[in-house]
Amino acid sequence: MDLTLSEVLIVSGSLILIGLLVSEILDWLQMLIPLTSNNQVFIPLPVFDYANDNQPHDWKAEFIRRVRSNQSPINIITNDSVVIEGGDPLDWIDYSTQPEVMTMINDGNTITLHFVWPNGIIPHIEKGPLRYSYNFHSIIFYWGISDDVGSEHGLDNVKYPMEMQLVHVKANLESPRTIITTENSDEIAIISYFFKISKDNNDALDNITSKLSNVEDVQSKIFIEPFNIDTLFPIFKRKFYTFNGSSTALSFSENVTWIINPEPLNIARTQMEKFRKINLLKREEIKKYQPIQTFNQETVYFHE
Ligand SMILES: *[C@@H]1O[C@H](CO)[C@@H](O)[C@H](O)[C@H]1NC(C)=O
Ligand SMILES: *[C@@H]1O[C@H](CO)[C@@H](O)[C@H](O)[C@H]1NC(C)=O
Ligand SMILES: *[C@@H]1O[C@H](CO)[C@@H](O)[C@H](O)[C@H]1NC(C)=O
Ligand SMILES: *[C@@H]1O[C@H](CO)[C@@H](O)[C@H](O)[C@H]1NC(C)=O
Repeated sequence: MDLTLSEVLIVSGSLILIGLLVSEILDWLQMLIPLTSNNQVFIPLPVFDYANDNQPHDWKAEFIRRVRSNQSPINIITNDSVVIEGGDPLDWIDYSTQPEVMTMINDGNTITLHFVWPNGIIPHIEKGPLRYSYNFHSIIFYWGISDDVGSEHGLDNVKYPMEMQLVHVKANLESPRTIITTENSDEIAIISYFFKISKDNNDALDNITSKLSNVEDVQSKIFIEPFNIDTLFPIFKRKFYTFNGSSTALSFSENVTWIINPEPLNIARTQMEKFRKINLLKREEIKKYQPIQTFNQETVYFHE
């Protein structure tokens, strides 16, 4: 068979394109592999660090095994917190960016949201109580079967029906594995919001609650239509509690810098019920919930 040079170029070019397409499809199929096992949580870390070998194409393979720990939740006694006046306000950068891809996962312990961001942009926080810059990584929801349990933290012995945690990972980490091996206690910062039952619907939350029926089964995972995440929560710069503590879901050996907004957000009862329909592995444990443990109060700060 005689082929001209341009025909050869067209054929080889087409083969290369087909190859690239197939490899991309295989790459994405990895995300659909069911998350495995009983009380082990698989969390991709960090999903959007463009530094070094950690390109967006690599993060899909970076599922790192974590074992859920049994740390007690923490109750903040607001009157005992140390008030910091005139501190640096917390800085939020690029939170109005719309993600390119959003996934919702039922890993058996919680519902989490993960993101892929458009090239070069990663929402991040800095200043306030933070010494470094922290890249936004994922959102975790905690809820209970009744209105007086659910939140991981308590505020003056009050538990809220739901808590939403924005997980952040220190920027410029050499690789996700650094988090596991490091001795440092400043790799993770989590911003937390409480939810209280309201008469009115929280319309922004509908972007989440309308998808929950697709992840009612343990180990289910779906893509959801991307929306601006900063519709979900108010950006606050002051009037928050902060302390170094541990995390129930992310059992990192080091501590987490917590930043807690004491002003609860609204969730309608119909929206709350959609969360409560979700099947989790440790449902009984979540029903009873662990006894509240009061944190070492000397270390809780309130940034005025
Ligand atoms: C905080 O202290 C003030 C003044 O002592 C007191 O009136 C208030 O009830 C306390 N608040 C809480 C939540 O315990
Ligand atoms: C998300 O919620 C906002 C606010 O309610 C709404 O304007 C927007 O259309 C929703 N986006 C999607 C993708 O559902
Ligand atoms: C948390 O720990 C870091 C590192 O040890 C320290 O610099 C920071 O002041 C601590 N923050 C709080 C709120 O205790
Ligand atoms: C974590 O926090 C606890 C309580 O403040 C503290 O005793 C412990 O030393 C901290 N661990 C690290 C690795 O910083």
